[in-house]
Amino acid sequence: MDISIINGPNLNMLGKREPAIYGGKTLEEINKEIRKKAESLNIFVEFYQSNSEGAIVSKIQSSADKQGLIINAAAYTHTSIAIRDALLSISIPFIEVHLTNIYKRDNFRRKSYLSDIALGTIAGFGDFVYELALEAMVNYLKK
Ligand code: DQA
Repeated sequence: MDISIINGPNLNMLGKREPAIYGGKTLEEINKEIRKKAESLNIFVEFYQSNSEGAIVSKIQSSADKQGLIINAAAYTHTSIAIRDALLSISIPFIEVHLTNIYKRDNFRRKSYLSDIALGTIAGFGDFVYELALEAMVNYLKK
């Protein structure tokens, strides 16, 4: 099993970026923990982060050969029809994740262009959302 994990804009700033909201761990530290979890589940994970919408679109397109995808599209969640269309263009399941509960923050964060086409959405549990998503994806794919 091969799962792609894609992170969008400003998530490379985790650790420094509004730590009271997003936590104190860097993306590298989080990815290390995800890799450990993946190893315990006997699956392979590939990590990708970009601040650029077009690069994320291209990465989604080139992930068509994976079994599943986990994406934190960050601010593009709320704006990007291009990322939505890219996810629709490949026929693999994806899970939308957010570190924060986007439904209890600013009003503009309540709109997601991804939720209605995702397998599911996991939000609000800090960096643990990635592990939860990984477990949910593996459980789904094994069925
Ligand atoms: C986020 C929530 C988004 O609204 C925000 O723009 C982000 C991070 C999260 O993980 O909580 O950059 O996706």
